[in-house]
Amino acid sequence: MFLRQLALIIASSAVLAVLAGPVQNPHLVLPRDAAVHKQAVQNIFLESYAAYKEFAFGHDDLTPISKSFTDGRNGWGASIVDAMSTLHIMGQDKLFEEAVEFASKIDFSISHTPDTTSVFETTIRFLGGLLSAFELSGEKHPVLVQKAKEVADKMSVAFSLGNTVPYGFVNFNTSTPTIATSNIAEAGTLSLEWATLTKHTGNATYRRLAENSVRHIAGLTPPLPGLAAQGIDPTSGNFVGALVTWGGGSDSYFEYLIKYPRLTNINDDLFADTWATAVDTSMRVLARTSTVGNHLYLADQDDDGTIRHISSHLACFHAGNWLFGGKLMNNQSIVDFGLRLADACWNTYASTTTGIGMEAFGFFSSDGNFTGANPTASDLAFYSQHGFFLFPGSEFYLLRPEVLESNFYAWRVTGDVKFLERAAAATASFERFLKVPKEEGVGFAGLWNVEDTGEGFIDDMESFWFAEVLKYLYLTFDDPEHISLDEWVFNTEAHPFKAPTAKPSYGSGAFPSPKGVPRPSSSQPFRSQSGTLPQVSVEPVLEGRVRVRGGGV
Ligand SMILES: *[C@@H]1O[C@H](CO)[C@@H](O)[C@H](O)[C@H]1NC(C)=O
Ligand SMILES: *[C@@H]1O[C@H](CO)[C@@H](O)[C@H](O)[C@H]1NC(C)=O
Ligand SMILES: *[C@@H]1O[C@H](CO)[C@@H](O)[C@H](O)[C@H]1NC(C)=O
Ligand SMILES: *[C@@H]1O[C@H](CO)[C@@H](O)[C@H](O)[C@H]1NC(C)=O
Repeated sequence: MFLRQLALIIASSAVLAVLAGPVQNPHLVLPRDAAVHKQAVQNIFLESYAAYKEFAFGHDDLTPISKSFTDGRNGWGASIVDAMSTLHIMGQDKLFEEAVEFASKIDFSISHTPDTTSVFETTIRFLGGLLSAFELSGEKHPVLVQKAKEVADKMSVAFSLGNTVPYGFVNFNTSTPTIATSNIAEAGTLSLEWATLTKHTGNATYRRLAENSVRHIAGLTPPLPGLAAQGIDPTSGNFVGALVTWGGGSDSYFEYLIKYPRLTNINDDLFADTWATAVDTSMRVLARTSTVGNHLYLADQDDDGTIRHISSHLACFHAGNWLFGGKLMNNQSIVDFGLRLADACWNTYASTTTGIGMEAFGFFSSDGNFTGANPTASDLAFYSQHGFFLFPGSEFYLLRPEVLESNFYAWRVTGDVKFLERAAAATASFERFLKVPKEEGVGFAGLWNVEDTGEGFIDDMESFWFAEVLKYLYLTFDDPEHISLDEWVFNTEAHPFKAPTAKPSYGSGAFPSPKGVPRPSSSQPFRSQSGTLPQVSVEPVLEGRVRVRGGGV
């Protein structure tokens, strides 16, 4: 009887969904020199953090060139909260306790700046940082949950006007949302954090609010199967425009579609199935290769169906995300795609004079098209050598993590030491080109142009330098069982949450076409554009200095 049932279960799950394997390669062998690189990363972290403490403690970011600070995240000390989980992982107990002490006194009842509060940024950095630190420390400091609850309660008015999709910004002083359109990254990247808050408070409201927003977005008719449009209006609940991208403004909505079912083991295939559909459509419609080097990238599709042959540092999270999801679904073709994306993203680092990648890049597609104004002679020369060109106005590096994040997944999933070598090369480039010389400032800083250090440093040390870049690098060189991808799920700010034992399978194994949208064939024709450059992403600190605008993340 029992055996027959078991056989039936196995037979039926074989039809519907393939059993998941572990995400990490169980036979990873860390070479001896990894310890040296790990120490180098830790030194970069400690030097950056010491500079932050000296010139900016309690403020959001250090400005390493002017040796001062900025408060772009409402002045609640974003760098400290964002650094906490990394401090714990690096075993910096004293600094960790000091950060917990600071966090326990943050006043979330008001904004300390004239700015409204981004629900998305505050969720991924503050909620994520506080709750991850709580879990990593063995639930030693209940005050971290108390603080997470305080900030989430203030943010919850984003849902208070009868809307299922949250407004993107809230005035904390008056507890009122800003009525404005949002995007799917802002509205769909709350689920891991708010579900974790529910887990530790017992209040089911947090999780329900965040989950219902994702359910709503996944239930709308998208421009392409599984691929939601970027813009969304919380008031009407409808998409705004039809831009499809894996880059900023959309990115982490897709990221969480597969991470949410893994973190919660929710008994509902909607999330994993929508993710698998998005991946399937991307392979058919968005995947392109460059004429030189055969680099794989996922193009964007514009409002009018035009394909844009660009990609970005932000989008490069997709490689690691596809490796993670491909493993959970035991789907080798998704894993293989992920590895090719990771290679193409790494190529943007390997090709520059600094060995550091830029914000956005363009390709000449093997279909004969490209996006943007006519390329200059030097773009063409660069392209013929490297298979991509630096997107005009996007030559900067803002201490972003995504390429090294995907490289970390690639190492843990495959065990191929080439990924360790890449991480070591990036660490060396950071030491050489991002360390601010004493006569110019302190700590580490981003670059205005990764091809030309003469353009100087960007005067802002983003908190994700601590939360993401240096954590992913450090863990790449650390014992693979430390923060195993089979035991922890990283939020989009690289704060790990403790995951339950994995389910036998994720998703139904079917590809439901969302209502009204036919599943496209791989040979679907598309239009390409030349002309004005598209928007890529927005960074407040860069406004006015560079031409890229829009996106929102
Ligand atoms: C909130 O109040 C504080 C303290 O009065 C003030 O400094 C800040 O500018 C205000 N922020 C907003 C968004 O009203
Ligand atoms: C749960 O959290 C919501 C959102 O902040 C709040 O409105 C509600 O009162 C809380 N419920 C309980 C039982 O504490
Ligand atoms: C693997 O995933 C791809 C893309 O989602 C899909 O087209 C393919 O059918 C899947 N393969 C299996 C065996 O499920
Ligand atoms: C490339 O773009 C041009 C103009 O934008 C268009 O006429 C042409 O059909 C496109 N080629 C392909 C293969 O899509």
